[in-house]
Parts: sequence; structure tokens; C-alpha cells
Amino acid sequence: MTIGFFDSGVGGLTVLAEALRQLPEENYIYYADTEHVPYGIRNKDEVRRFVLQAVDFMAAQNIKALVVACNTATSIAINNLRQKYDFPVLGMEPAVKPAVEKNGTQKGLKRVLVAATQLTLREQKYQDLVSRVDQDHIVDGIALPELVEYAENFVFDPEIIVPYLKRKLTGWNVSQYGTVVLGCTHFRYFERSFAKVFPADTDIIDGSIGTIRYLKTILEQKNLATSRGKGEVTFYSSGKETAKAKYQKYLDFLNTLNKA
Ligand code: DGL
Repeated sequence: MTIGFFDSGVGGLTVLAEALRQLPEENYIYYADTEHVPYGIRNKDEVRRFVLQAVDFMAAQNIKALVVACNTATSIAINNLRQKYDFPVLGMEPAVKPAVEKNGTQKGLKRVLVAATQLTLREQKYQDLVSRVDQDHIVDGIALPELVEYAENFVFDPEIIVPYLKRKLTGWNVSQYGTVVLGCTHFRYFERSFAKVFPADTDIIDGSIGTIRYLKTILEQKNLATSRGKGEVTFYSSGKETAKAKYQKYLDFLNTLNKA
């Protein structure tokens, strides 16, 4: 049996890459909902419908666990998915809590900037998370929908992305941020460009390492782990099996980021 990874597009590959690193002896299916990406600018009923349709398809491939490697889909549909399926369903949410803990104590109340889709930032799940952990009111949010488009088109060149980020952050005092939380899985591809726009001591964090650590624990607890796979991935684009090459180039690009 395989582990399913789901995203609206190529964002979830940033999480899958971490799974291939931490759990190389599993096999995977990766589902990108390329017919409907981007999710972040759509209405939530529509997104919920797309997610349920995609996960029905994945469930029919006999997955033993599902990682919703998309913050937007998690905020809209995670409860529906958990009710509907018997296999473990893991989601992603912006890493606001560790960022607030770190900036409140260690950095003398610097601010935290959460970059995500507008749908994630607007959703109750995110609002509740912030009200729960942000006692000092140090968290700001910014929607960066164009980064999803750039990622889908394999545009990662800092000469294009840095000016884009600077335009979006016009009027924001970037030096006040101790941590930038990448709250959309598509954004990890742009880590180098974020690092160029914020001060050198600003941390840029995302949830992929923690999510996969948690996946590992769940597989062990439920006796679902295997040592018989080979890190093989079968890719689907909105229900159609897709040649590896399209997605492999993203995984190769992520490897270059990890080495830097
Ligand atoms: N990758 C998704 C996320 O983590 C959303 C991208 C989109 O489809 O707008 O939020």
C-alpha cells in the first residue's frame, strides 16, 4: 500500500520531497489537481468539492494514509476527510505557534509574518489558531497568490521573484519581522527570494519537516510502516496518470535548495 499526497498543484511536492528524505522505504502516489489550481482564490464550497473528488480517486488506489499537502485544502476540508475515510489523514497548517513562541521570548517581541493564500488567511481555522496563540498581537498575514502561478510555471528566478515580493511588501516594514511563516506549500520554492527581501536574521520556516515527522510517528503507531518500498512515486494530474518528468524537475530543484 502507498501513502497519498494531495495538493492543488506542485506545492505538495515540497512536502513529498521531505517524505522521500525521511521515509525512503515507502511508496507514494502524488495527486495534483491541475485542472482546478489555484485553490486560494476560489470560494470554499468549490474547493471542498474538488478536494473530496480528488481524495475519492486516491482512496480507490488503496492508500494507507493521506497527507493533505496543501494549507488551503486543509483549512477547508480536513474535517470532512477525517469523517469520511478510515485511513489516517494528516493536514498542514501555518506554523504560527512555534513562530510566536520564538519571537515572544527569544527575539524580544519581533513580529511574525504569515504568507499564505487569501482563502487560508480568511478561514475560521486560521483565525482561531491566531487568536489562540497570538496573545501579544505580533502576527500579520499577507496573501501572495501570484507565487502559486509562478510555481506552477516553474518560475523561481530571484530576478523575477524578488522584485515581485518587494512590490507586494511596499509600505511594510520588513525589518520588524523575526520570522516569516510560509503558510502555503507552493511558497517553499521561493525561500531564497524571501531570504533576499527580509533581514539576514529573519527565520523563514515552513511545516514540511514537522508534518513528515508526525507522519512517521503515525505510521509506526498504527503498524502501517514498511521497509519494502523504494521511494517510488506515481503521479496523477486531476485523475490522469502523468509522466514523472513533469514533477521530477521540481523535486530536483528542491534538492538544489536543500544543498545550498
Ligand atoms: N498549495 C496550496 C497551499 O498550501 C494552495 C495553492 C493554491 O492552489 O492556491 O495553500
